[in-house]
Amino acid sequence: MPVIDLRSDTVTMPTPEMRKAMATAPLGDDVFGDDPMVNELEQMAAERLGKEAALFLPSGTMGNVVGVAVNTRPGEEMIADADAHVFLYEGAGAAVISGVQIRPVATATGVMTPAQIEAAIRPRDDFHQPITAAVSFEDTHNRHGGVVWPLKDLRAAAQTARGLGLRVHLDGARIFNASVAAGTDVADIAACADTVTFCLSKGLGCPAGSVFCGSAEDVDQARRWRKRLGGAMRQAGVIAATGVIALRTMVDRLAEDHANACTLAEGLAELSGVRCDLSRVQTNLVFFDLERMTGSEFEAECGKRGVLGGATGPNRVRFVTHYGITAGDIQSTLKICEEVLST
Ligand SMILES: Cc1ncc(COP(=O)(O)O)c(C=O)c1O
Repeated sequence: MPVIDLRSDTVTMPTPEMRKAMATAPLGDDVFGDDPMVNELEQMAAERLGKEAALFLPSGTMGNVVGVAVNTRPGEEMIADADAHVFLYEGAGAAVISGVQIRPVATATGVMTPAQIEAAIRPRDDFHQPITAAVSFEDTHNRHGGVVWPLKDLRAAAQTARGLGLRVHLDGARIFNASVAAGTDVADIAACADTVTFCLSKGLGCPAGSVFCGSAEDVDQARRWRKRLGGAMRQAGVIAATGVIALRTMVDRLAEDHANACTLAEGLAELSGVRCDLSRVQTNLVFFDLERMTGSEFEAECGKRGVLGGATGPNRVRFVTHYGITAGDIQSTLKICEEVLST
């Protein structure tokens, strides 16, 4: 039975060009700083994001853990959206590794207003409270449906945060989806943050890897943290070579994933028993709610018919479009969803 895997954009397989590059890439020991592919990837990433330097990391989670560590000190606090990955899904890494507390701020769409940032900052003169050191933004925002921060809102939030003495980290796991969807240069998005992490292993199709970008000084600090966390790899160019290809060839095609997500969401919204907020479907994530089935029942029934998705709440399901999913797969998925909902 053919399987249409819409669980995540992390299930993407490397392209044939990536496979070839993995086999033939010139390699060195990256801990000695002499892996040519890692160096090329880091330079490309820094240039693309308009930052001084970049560091190749094994995962987006490590990117955020390092982002917290670089921007804070133990006993301090970082503000983040209440549905942010850094708050919900990183095993309390900020607390365990950096000794830092995340202060969650509930937002409507993941976009934090200047007023919310101001209100979340602790009074400096009260020694009972932690010191607010930093804020973390997420763009696109996963749990809020893959929505893109309007650039003017991101700029306003960053300006307020910086004006109040906070450092700004951006979890840009899907920053290229945001850039392509909004038609905004990725460097303009990255300029709103001091440090940025983006993932190669999601819509860009690499088997693993993320990149941390920032000033030369922040990247030096990040390198120390990567070593401390055991994330410094040796012939990492085997993977970094795929990242170089991804930045060259896989960014513009994200528009195809967004178009597929839009068609999928529109089709789902027409099915009886489904509610899907189309205004939130701006990139490659499609969240929808079921009126007569639980998310787990729906996931199981679709799975039996070869469509894989993920229940993310009692009645909520997420489908993710990505490289390898075609317009035809979207039509097949809609037929299977209709069948499942009518049984
Ligand atoms: C917004 C966001 N940040 C960070 C991550 C972590 O990336 P990784 O799975 O590479 O650790 C994810 C993964 O899904 C994510 O969606």
